[in-house]
Amino acid sequence: MVLGKKYFSESESSEKSSTSTSVKLEEFQEIVDELFLLNGVLNIGDWIPWLGFLDLQGYEKRMKALKKRLDRFRAHVLDEHMAKRKAMKDFEAKDMVDLLLELVDNPDLEVKLTYDNVKGFIQDLIAAGTDSSASTVEWAMSELLKQPNLMDKATEELDRVIGKTRWVSEKDIAQLPFLEAVIKETLRKHPVAVLLAPHLAIEDCNVNGYYIRKGTPVFVNAWSIARDPSVWDAPEEFRPERFLGKDKDFDIKGQRFEMLPFGSGRRMCPGYSLGMKMVSSTLANLLHGFSWKLGGSYQRNEDLDMDEAYGLATIRKFPLVAVMEPRLPVHLYDAF
Ligand code: HEM
Repeated sequence: MVLGKKYFSESESSEKSSTSTSVKLEEFQEIVDELFLLNGVLNIGDWIPWLGFLDLQGYEKRMKALKKRLDRFRAHVLDEHMAKRKAMKDFEAKDMVDLLLELVDNPDLEVKLTYDNVKGFIQDLIAAGTDSSASTVEWAMSELLKQPNLMDKATEELDRVIGKTRWVSEKDIAQLPFLEAVIKETLRKHPVAVLLAPHLAIEDCNVNGYYIRKGTPVFVNAWSIARDPSVWDAPEEFRPERFLGKDKDFDIKGQRFEMLPFGSGRRMCPGYSLGMKMVSSTLANLLHGFSWKLGGSYQRNEDLDMDEAYGLATIRKFPLVAVMEPRLPVHLYDAF
């Protein structure tokens, strides 16, 4: 959606030579993982600046290496888009990069956009829009595999509402309250951004007796808010039922401060709508199209570990391993 085509397909990875400027799928995943990890690490030099030059943990060195790899990729994307614009007479913008490049050439903008800004924008969208939805789906599947009775409930709802003759489409989601409750409970227990994005106090203020000076970086701990036992009953337990009945329409877009999976206010996630659509459609179809069993060496489902790896996004420490089997008529899988 952002770049207009797949820059990192698996077939591409085997075709391209090592001197190519294109990025291989595995390399791209590595770049995103490293980006998220380095964004989330506690770098000693940030907190004790006079020790910064020593780069004691080696993070700055890794950041510089990552910047080089990202620059190579972003330059390749921009070059391709600019060449395409030059080559066509009546060029029409087709993707986000085309649109942004048009804005760079617009002399009437109140705030001028530079090529560097466009590169930043591309990175922001790719980094913020990929792992966030993917890891939410992985956490949801983990919780359902841990409690198969919940998986059965979700599947029963899908069979009842969708039937067994077709896949789930986006417009069906509103008819699947249990699925929606599973997603909300996943976002409560496993918010993608533990500390949201770093915010900044724009004026002096007082929060709950604490004086916060203008210019102070502020980190909102969304993870602990959503697990606060004074607000949530048995917060460590995964219970989608919390979001059924009277709390069916519980707001998760920043108006209920008991959980802030997308942040709140002007800096909240701008990809909320897209993110929710991707997570709901993906999870619904994974559950509808396949029956699932836990893989790996677990004796019992409830033993599945829920360890988190800390970074900018909170992903599973150990990837989920599961075995799937088709559960719909065989012709429905033809398209794949
Ligand atoms: C389940 C999916 C997603 C979750 C849970 C999520 C969550 C978040 C959170 C918590 C923030 C920080 C908000 C704050 O600091 O107050 C954020 C920021 C952001 N998100 Fe998302 N997000 C998701 C999907 C997406 C998608 C699909 C896109 C774009 C395609 C996106 C683009 C962004 C961007 C650009 C920012 C930075 C906004 C800024 O600080 O200026 N997100 N997201």
